[in-house]
Amino acid sequence: MDFELKGKAAVVAASSSGLGKAIALELAAEGARVTINARSEANLRRAADEIRSATGAEVLQVTGDLTRKEDVRRLIAETKDRSGSVDILVTNAGGPPAGFFDDFKEDDYRKAVELNLISTIALCRQAVPHMKEAGWGRIVAITSIAAKQPVENLILSNTARAGVLGFMKSLADQVASFGITVNAVCPGYHLTERLRDLASLVAGKEGVSVEEVYARWAASTPMKRIGDPKEFAAAVAFLCSVRASYITGTAIQIDGGVYRGLI
Ligand SMILES: NC(=O)c1ccc[n+]([C@@H]2O[C@H](COP(=O)([O-])OP(=O)(O)OC[C@H]3O[C@@H](n4cnc5c(N)ncnc54)[C@H](OP(=O)(O)O)[C@@H]3O)[C@@H](O)[C@H]2O)c1
Repeated sequence: MDFELKGKAAVVAASSSGLGKAIALELAAEGARVTINARSEANLRRAADEIRSATGAEVLQVTGDLTRKEDVRRLIAETKDRSGSVDILVTNAGGPPAGFFDDFKEDDYRKAVELNLISTIALCRQAVPHMKEAGWGRIVAITSIAAKQPVENLILSNTARAGVLGFMKSLADQVASFGITVNAVCPGYHLTERLRDLASLVAGKEGVSVEEVYARWAASTPMKRIGDPKEFAAAVAFLCSVRASYITGTAIQIDGGVYRGLI
């Protein structure tokens, strides 16, 4: 299937590593011109070089912190200046710290909401006017399986991600008539830096090895393995494609079957 992504201008937020980088790589391989972003300039440069040499694609790198309004504005504005349009937006950010109710104060929740919910809203507020003007757009928000099925030690993530689903569903309804689709994707366990950090934390607390933690997570997954970011990126690239033209307002889990609910 041709995803018809050649020449499309795509912004992938938080994309110097992990799921974001895998998505940027996949979109670039499909012929899109990608803008990547992260706070660390050195890591971002490395990721841009990797994507360019693997795909030959045009890659714009815009350093910035997604919790800062001005950085979000610049990320979208530089893409528009470079490409003349902002066709595709993949929202993403780091994950909040792991922990339980007794571990956090109100300010920790504010920070988590800024990181995962407000950054998503800010990115959409900057990108949607360009998509409306063009009469076409694709928005995909990376959330977490925690948005559908709370994860035991991730109370900050469980809380902030649910808001993202509410926002995305509302936005989908309000921009559908402009040719813009809006969907959320809910990753289960995928092998990235973030997952390594979470596994080390659990391993440290329980006095077991990181490998034992991975093995437990794999065992709790119907597919009995942890996902490869490439598998996640392939599904996101499809949602970003011209071909995914009648899919909007969905929240799709990509999780090897971890989510146990019916809908
Ligand atoms: N991997 C999984 O299994 C999994 C499962 C469920 C949900 N998720 C969620 O999916 C998202 C991506 O996770 P990942 O596993 O790909 O994480 P990762 O490998 O740690 O990558 C995170 C990326 O985000 C960037 N970033 C973090 N905070 C940022 C900020 N404030 N502004 C701009 N860029 C920022 C990082 O670069 P800098 O640090 O240089 O900014 C890095 O490029 C997270 O929200 C995570 O919680 C992941």
